Order: sequence, then C-alpha cells, then structure tokens
Amino acid sequence: MFVCNCNGIRCGEVQEAIQAGARTPQAVHRRRGCKAQCGRCLPEIADRIREARAAAAGAEPAVLKSA
Ligand code: FES
Repeated sequence: MFVCNCNGIRCGEVQEAIQAGARTPQAVHRRRGCKAQCGRCLPEIADRIREARAAAAGAEPAVLKSA
C-alpha cells in the first residue's frame, strides 16, 4: 500500500525511514530521495512517526475519546 502516491513511497518504506531515524515527514521523504509534492501524505506519515515514538517509549498511542 502506498502512503505517498506522488512519490510512490510504500508503508514499509515509511517504517524503514522512521526506524532509521526520520523524525519528521520531510525527513522520511529525504531518506527516500524525494520531496513532498501535494502534501496529502504528511499527516499520515506524522501519525506513523508518533506511533513509532509511543511504541519506543513503551506507551500506548494517544487515543481520542468520544464524548
Ligand atoms: S501523496 Fe505524498 S506528496 Fe502527494
């Protein structure tokens, strides 16, 4: 599954970039040798970075509670 359709970046490639040290969506693109184009993927990549950080810290990712 593609996370970034503009640059053809797949889910696993985003995870690899995060595990290799990317801490921003822009850093993920740089590690893949490209730049964001439309920017639609940036929130998704940011979520994956947050989830990876939370997992590394041993915490559950923040969950929004419905009212
Ligand atoms: S989908 Fe990633 S820049 Fe457009």
